[in-house]
Amino acid sequence: MMRLAITGLITAALGATQAFGALFKGPAQVLNRTYDYIVVGAGAGGGVMASRLSEDPHTRVLLIEAGGSDFLNINLSVPGFAPTLPGSQFDWNFTTVPQAGLDDRIINYPRGFVLGGSTSINQMAFNRGTRDDYDRWARVTGDDGWSFHKLYPFIKGMDTVTPPADHHNTTGEFDPAVHGHGLLPISLPGFLLPTDDKIIETTDELPEQFPFNLDYNSGDTVGVGWSQQTIQDGRRVSSATSYLAAAFNRSNLDIVVNTHVTKVFPVGSEGHKPVVRGVEFAQSADGPLYTSKATKEVVLSAGSVKTPHILLLSGIGDAAYLSSVGINPIVDLPAVGQNLQDHPYLRISWLVNSTDTLDNLQRNATLAAAVLAEWQTNHTGPLVLGGGSQRAFLRINDSDAFFASLGTSDPSAGPTSGHYELITRNGFGATRQALPAEGHFFSFTIAVVSPSARGNITLASTDPFAAPAINPNFLANPVDLAIMRSGIRAARAFVSAPAWSGYILSEFGPSADAHTDDELDAFSRNNTDTIDHPVGTVAMGKGVAGALEPDLRVKGTVGLRVVDASAFPFIISGHTQGESTV
Ligand SMILES: Cc1cc2nc3c(=O)[nH]c(=O)nc-3n(C[C@H](O)[C@H](O)[C@H](O)COP(=O)(O)OP(=O)(O)OC[C@H]3O[C@@H](n4cnc5c(N)ncnc54)[C@H](O)[C@@H]3O)c2cc1C
Ligand SMILES: *[C@@H]1O[C@H](CO)[C@@H](O)[C@H](O)[C@H]1NC(C)=O
Ligand SMILES: *[C@@H]1O[C@H](CO)[C@@H](O)[C@H](O)[C@H]1NC(C)=O
Ligand SMILES: *[C@@H]1O[C@H](CO)[C@@H](O)[C@H](O)[C@H]1NC(C)=O
Ligand SMILES: *[C@@H]1O[C@H](CO)[C@@H](O)[C@H](O)[C@H]1NC(C)=O
Ligand SMILES: *[C@@H]1O[C@H](CO)[C@@H](O)[C@H](O)[C@H]1NC(C)=O
Ligand SMILES: *[C@@H]1O[C@H](CO)[C@@H](O)[C@H](O)[C@H]1NC(C)=O
Ligand SMILES: *[C@@H]1O[C@H](CO)[C@@H](O)[C@H](O)[C@H]1NC(C)=O
Ligand SMILES: *[C@@H]1O[C@H](CO)[C@@H](O)[C@H](O)[C@H]1NC(C)=O
Ligand SMILES: *[C@@H]1O[C@H](CO)[C@@H](O)[C@H](O)[C@H]1NC(C)=O
Ligand SMILES: *[C@@H]1O[C@H](CO)[C@@H](O)[C@H](O)[C@H]1NC(C)=O
Ligand SMILES: *[C@@H]1O[C@H](CO)[C@@H](O)[C@H](O)[C@H]1NC(C)=O
Repeated sequence: MMRLAITGLITAALGATQAFGALFKGPAQVLNRTYDYIVVGAGAGGGVMASRLSEDPHTRVLLIEAGGSDFLNINLSVPGFAPTLPGSQFDWNFTTVPQAGLDDRIINYPRGFVLGGSTSINQMAFNRGTRDDYDRWARVTGDDGWSFHKLYPFIKGMDTVTPPADHHNTTGEFDPAVHGHGLLPISLPGFLLPTDDKIIETTDELPEQFPFNLDYNSGDTVGVGWSQQTIQDGRRVSSATSYLAAAFNRSNLDIVVNTHVTKVFPVGSEGHKPVVRGVEFAQSADGPLYTSKATKEVVLSAGSVKTPHILLLSGIGDAAYLSSVGINPIVDLPAVGQNLQDHPYLRISWLVNSTDTLDNLQRNATLAAAVLAEWQTNHTGPLVLGGGSQRAFLRINDSDAFFASLGTSDPSAGPTSGHYELITRNGFGATRQALPAEGHFFSFTIAVVSPSARGNITLASTDPFAAPAINPNFLANPVDLAIMRSGIRAARAFVSAPAWSGYILSEFGPSADAHTDDELDAFSRNNTDTIDHPVGTVAMGKGVAGALEPDLRVKGTVGLRVVDASAFPFIISGHTQGESTV
C-alpha cells in the first residue's frame, strides 16, 4: 500500500490562474489541529505523498515546506529557462566540501527551494530505472516488492505520453506499449532541431556502438533514444503543478510554506523504540519554534541533503559521531548520512559549420525576446525544449575485462544499465567556460551513471539553519575516472560518423588537447560538476549499512518514514526524479 501510494509522480496540471497564496497556512495556524500524517518537504517524494494520503477525506495531512509557494513563476514554467534556476531564489545554494577528486574544487550543489522541490527547478529529463537497477534494490533490501517484475505494473501506469508542443508526429520516437495512462504527463521534444536527423542517422551508421533504442523507459536503457521529459503543452510539470495543485482545495490537507522543520522528536516509546511522531519547525533562526504531533506517522521527504540533516539534528544517526558533535543520540543508526551517491558530469563542444544553433538565443537579445513572446502566446518555439533532445545510455565495451583490469567489479547494476550517458545539444556546452562571443557549436553532456564513489552528509554545525557538509567524493577513485574517459571517447566516436561530415569542424575548448588517459583525467578533474542526482543518504538495506526497512520505516523507531531519494540503496543509472516517487 505504501509502495503503491508513493508510485507515480504528477497529475494533470491545474488551471494556473487560481490565487494559490490564499490556500496556505502560517505555522501558528496549524498548531491546534490534529494530523494523522505530517509530511516534511514538498518535492518529488513529499508532493506526491501528501497528495496521495489526502485522497482519503478522513485522513488529515499536514505538509511543511521550507521554500515558498511561487511554483508557477514564469522562470519555473518555461522549460528553456531551467539552466537559470540553480543559484536563483528557488535554490538552497548548497556547496560541497573541497573535492579531492576535482583538484580540491568546491562545487555548487543545487536543490529546489519552493513547492515541488527539485522537480520545480530540474532539467525535466524523465527516466525510469532499468530492470537491473530495480532487481538490485530487491536484492540488497531482501524485498522482492522492489524487483522490476513486481514494480513494472506501477511504473508503466505512472505516466501518460502527451503530444509535443509542436504537435509533430512522434511515431518512431517512443514505444506506446511501455506507457500507460498515469497521473504524470510527459512528452517528447516539442521543437525539432537541425541536428536531430544526424543523431538518428548515426545510429544507422554505427549501430554496434550506438544502437537506436526506441524507448529507454522500457526497462532497458542501453542505446540512443529520444528524450522523454516532464513537460506538457510546452510547460514544466512538477510535483506542485500537478499532484499537489490537485490536492490544494482538500479540507483535510494543510500546507505551510516558508517554514523549516528543524527536528523530529519522540513523543513516547513502544517496546524499546522511541515513537518519533513529533515535529519542530520555525520560519527563521531567530523566529519562534513551533511543534506538532502526528497521530500516525511523520514522513520525511526533505531530499537527500536535508532528510539526513534533519535526522542527525534529531539524534538519529551514528551515536558515537553524534555524541562527538554534542548531539544527544536517541537512535544509533550509523547509515544516516552515509552512502551518498551522485552522477558526475562534464561537457565537450565542437565548432560546427552552421549558424542554426541554440547559441543564437544567448547572444541575440532581440531573438531571445521574440522566442519568449512566442512562448507566452501559445507555449511553442525553442523555449519548450528542456535538456537535450536525445540521450544515449551506453556500456563500456567488454566491461568485465575493463573493470577487472582496474581491480574492481562492474559498478553497474547489469546489462540493461549504462555506465555513462551522452546527452546531445545543438549548441555550446561546458561546465566552467562561458559561451564564446563567436562561433556555433554542437556539444555532449557526458555523465557517469553507474558511479562507484560513495560520499556522505555530515553536520557542519548544530544550527538547523546552517547547511550541512556535503561530500559526494566525485572522481575520488580510478573507476569513475575511467568511465568518464570512455564517455568522452564515445562522444568523439559519435561525431566521427559519416552523418557529421562537413558539419563538425573541430573540437573546441580545453578538452580538444586531452587525448591520453592522463590528459583526459586532468580535464575531467578540472571540469566535472554534479548533474544533481544525490541519493542514498538514508538508504534501505539490511544490517548496519541500511537505515530503512524495505517499507521505508526508519529502523529503531516507530512512526517515522523516509519517502524521497535518500532511500535509494543504489543510484539508478538514469535521472532520478521518476524514482524519487516510486
Ligand atoms: C538543477 C537540478 C536538475 C535536475 N535535473 C533532473 C532531470 O533532468 N531529471 C531528473 O530525473 N532529475 C533531475 N534532478 C533530480 C531530481 O529533481 C531529484 O532527484 C528529485 O527531485 C528528488 O526528490 P526528493 O523528493 O528526494 O527531493 P526534492 O525534490 O529536492 O524535495 C525536497 C523538498 O524538501 C524541502 N525541504 C528541505 N528541507 C526542509 C525542511 N527542513 N523543512 C521543510 N522542507 C524542507 C525542499 O525545499 C524541497 O522542496 C535535478 C535536480 C536539480 C536540483
Ligand atoms: C490554540 O490553542 C490555545 C490553547 O487552547 C489557544 O490559546 C490558541 O489561541 C489557539 N490557537 C489558534 C491559532 O487557534
Ligand atoms: C526570472 O529570472 C530572471 C533572471 O534569470 C530575473 O531577472 C527575473 O526577475 C525573473 N522573473 C521572475 C518573475 O521572477
Ligand atoms: C540563493 O541565492 C539567491 C541569489 O543570491 C538568493 O536570491 C536566494 O534567496 C538564495 N536561496 C536561499 C534559500 O537562501
Ligand atoms: C504518424 O506517422 C506514422 C508513420 O509514419 C503513420 O503511420 C501515422 O499515420 C502518422 N500519424 C498521424 C496522426 O499522422
Ligand atoms: C568496441 O570498441 C571498438 C573499438 O574500440 C569498436 O570498434 C566497437 O564498435 C565497439 N563495440 C561496441 C559494441 O561498442
Ligand atoms: C476541488 O477541486 C476539484 C477539481 O478542480 C473540484 O472538482 C472540486 O469541486 C473542488 N472542491 C472544492 C471543495 O472546492
Ligand atoms: C537577432 O535576431 C533578430 C530576430 O530574429 C534578427 O532579425 C537579427 O538579424 C539577429 N541579429 C544578429 C546580429 O544576428
Ligand atoms: C504560436 O505563436 C507564434 C507567434 O508568436 C506563431 O508564429 C505560431 O504559428 C503559433 N503556433 C501555433 C501552434 O499556434
Ligand atoms: C565523511 O567522508 C569523509 C571523506 O570520505 C571522511 O573523511 C569522513 O570521516 C566521513 N565522515 C563521517 C562522519 O562519516
Ligand atoms: C560547410 O557546409 C557547406 C555546405 O553547407 C559546404 O559547402 C562546406 O564545404 C562546408 N565547410 C566545411 C569546412 O566542411
Ligand atoms: C581549469 O579550468 C579553468 C576554467 O576553464 C581554467 O581557467 C584553468 O586554467 C584550468 N586549470 C587547469 C589546470 O587546466
